[in-house]
Amino acid sequence: MNDVNIFNNSVKPQLFQPPNLVSLNFNHLISHKMKGNEKLITTLNSLLADELTVINQYMVQSEMCANWGYGKLHKAIRKQAMDEMHHAEWLIERILFFEGSPTVSKLNPMKIGKTVSEMISNNDETELKVVTEYNEAIKLAREVNDQGTADLLTKILKEEEGHVDWAEIQRAQIEQMGLENYLVNQIDSPAS
Ligand SMILES: [Fe+2]
Ligand SMILES: [Fe+2]
Repeated sequence: MNDVNIFNNSVKPQLFQPPNLVSLNFNHLISHKMKGNEKLITTLNSLLADELTVINQYMVQSEMCANWGYGKLHKAIRKQAMDEMHHAEWLIERILFFEGSPTVSKLNPMKIGKTVSEMISNNDETELKVVTEYNEAIKLAREVNDQGTADLLTKILKEEEGHVDWAEIQRAQIEQMGLENYLVNQIDSPAS
């Protein structure tokens, strides 16, 4: 009987297995870190949708201004679209750093406007909303002890506040000098 069972041994040879260091020591740290990041990734993706929306909003507006011959407005709004593109790029970079998936297919409802006045008040409203959202995201980044993300979001926030400033200056000028005088000042040869 022993001879028959020699090649039919149900007990498999035991391979040497190194101690499982990951499950022993680091799993709880990794899951804790990812938990914070997952919430942040969702927030970063939501900010990314805002950025991608305004890029499109500003691109259309800047071309409408070029079409009307308001070259200065065309350049100013186009420059803001470029700022927003940088913000989107930085957010994508950060999401990838966290090994998350950047969502680039989502756009929020766009507020373009049919006239220059409508555009400016829409942009003021949009930028104020964005400023609130960045402030909330910075608070979340600090709550999960992610100073790197908080710093990045603060850098973007400062530029968004600059956009609010720009829109409010335009609104004040329209109010003080009248729309027609304001628009005369916006005539310039459009950028090639
Ligand atoms: Fe932005
Ligand atoms: Fe902005």
